[in-house]
Formats: sequence, C-alpha cells, structure tokens
Amino acid sequence: MGALTGRRALVCGASRGIGRAIASALGGAGASVCLLARDRDALERVAGELGGRAVPLVADLDDPDRAAAAVEAEIAARGAFHVLVNNTGGPPAGFLLEAPAVEFERGFRRHVLAAQMLTRTVLPGMIEDGYGRIVNVVSTSVRQPIPGLGVSNTIRGAMASWAKTLADEVAPHGITVNNVLPGATRTGRLEALIVAWARRDDVPADEVEERMRAEIPMGRFGEPREVAAAVLFLASPDAGYITGVSLPVDGGRIRCI
Ligand SMILES: NC(=O)c1ccc[n+]([C@@H]2O[C@H](COP(=O)([O-])OP(=O)(O)OC[C@H]3O[C@@H](n4cnc5c(N)ncnc54)[C@H](OP(=O)(O)O)[C@@H]3O)[C@@H](O)[C@H]2O)c1
Repeated sequence: MGALTGRRALVCGASRGIGRAIASALGGAGASVCLLARDRDALERVAGELGGRAVPLVADLDDPDRAAAAVEAEIAARGAFHVLVNNTGGPPAGFLLEAPAVEFERGFRRHVLAAQMLTRTVLPGMIEDGYGRIVNVVSTSVRQPIPGLGVSNTIRGAMASWAKTLADEVAPHGITVNNVLPGATRTGRLEALIVAWARRDDVPADEVEERMRAEIPMGRFGEPREVAAAVLFLASPDAGYITGVSLPVDGGRIRCI
C-alpha cells in the first residue's frame, strides 16, 4: 500500500519534464494518474512507463474551457480526482518592456485561468470524497523575480496570489492548496532558456550555464524527480495541515529567509 493508494490524480503538463516526474512519483505512491498535455504520442509513452496506473488525456490549457470540459468527461467516465497538479509550459523568455500584450494574455490564460477552471471542475469530487490536494508548480520568481523572464515573473505572482486566496476558501473542507517553486531544474524548458539567454548575450551556452550554477549554493541544477518528491509529500495524507505555502526546491538559490 502506498500513501496514495485508492486516490486519483490529475497531473497537467505530464508529457515531459517536471510534470512527467510528478506523474511517476504519484503513480509510484499508488495513485491512478491521469496525464494531461497536448502531445498524444508523448503521453502514451509516459502512460506505458507507468503501467496500468496511468491514462492519457489530450487537452490544451491555452483553452481552459475546453480543457475543463475534457476533465469533466474524464471524471464522468472514471470518477473523481483527489489530487490536482497545476503545471504547464512556462511563458517565453524576454524583457518585460519588450513583451507583446498577447504573451501576457496567453500566460494568464494558460496558468491562472486554466488552474481556476480545472480546480472548479475537480472540487466537487474532492469535497464529496473527503480528500483534496491541489499543488501548483510555479517558480522561485514568486519570491525573487528572474531577470529576462518578464512575462513569467508577472504571471507567477498572479498564480501565487490566486493559490493563497483559494487555500483560504477551500480550507474548511480540509482541502489544501500549495505551491512548489522549482529552481533551475534539468528539463527541456531549462535548455530552451539557456539557449535563449546565450543568444541574447551573444555568449556560448556553457557560459550561461556556469553563470547560473554560480548562483546556486549547491552548485548544480535540480533534477525533475527532486521537485516531484516535494509535490508527492504535499499530495500525501501526512501534509494535511499544510496549506497556502510556497516551497522552494532550488538548491538554496533564493536569497530571502
Ligand atoms: N525547469 C526549470 O528550470 C523550471 C524552473 C522554474 C519553473 N519552471 C516551471 O515549471 C513548469 C514545468 O517546467 P518544465 O521544465 O517541466 O517544462 P517543460 O519541460 O517545457 O514541460 C512543460 C509541460 O507542459 C506541457 N504543456 C505546455 N503547454 C501546454 C498547454 N498549452 N496545454 C497543456 N500542456 C502544456 C508540455 O506538454 P505538451 O507540449 O505535450 O503539451 C509539457 O508536458 C513550467 O511552468 C516552468 O516554467 C521550470
């Protein structure tokens, strides 16, 4: 018996990177996992790796209404979700003052509105079954904005405020809402950022990596499974009295106490 045996988890952005590692960790703890993302082939590969514990759900979080309708249909077919992991692709790199309005709109829709719509969709089942854990994968930029990630920094702040507000509203049901804040974590997203910053500064990618590592007391990037371990804990019964917090998983990079 794992900590999540008998529980159903919806993991967004589960086809790659951090979301994929989270799906694997929750599945390893006994949960049945529904894997949401856009790339059907990748989702089917991940589902295959998790064995009978996982099903793919193809949906685009850029269209929160349709994504929520797909989740609603999944609940009607297989039952309520007890764990929701809000996680999706990060906004593109770039300076705030150069960002077009459409990037802010897309980021808000993909992160905040999608999380809001999915939460409203899964909440009745959590309340009815008496178990609910909502975990959002956000970023250390909630605490300390990252230069060159203007839209991302803005959207992460909105996401953190949304989550704290939600935590208060669902607390009477015993449902928790928490954020995990990854630092530099070895995924496709990190590789893309390194390439973008190297191009921006006209330096080799190795130099950008070195610069980033120098800001991390542990001197290395994180692994997706290290972020997933924090999500698993927050999704577990043992974390039932922890709500409204933001937990960095960043090798010590954030400088505030
Ligand atoms: N890696 C880091 O260093 C780091 C640090 C701080 C914060 N973060 C944040 O943590 C989150 C996950 O990061 P990651 O590194 O795992 O990113 P990643 O490797 O780019 O993976 C993103 C995941 O989200 C899915 N996705 C993207 N757009 C989507 C959409 N419109 N609808 C549904 N699914 C979508 C992708 O799948 P499909 O393409 O199949 O849809 C993929 O599964 C991101 O928000 C990222 O910005 C990452």
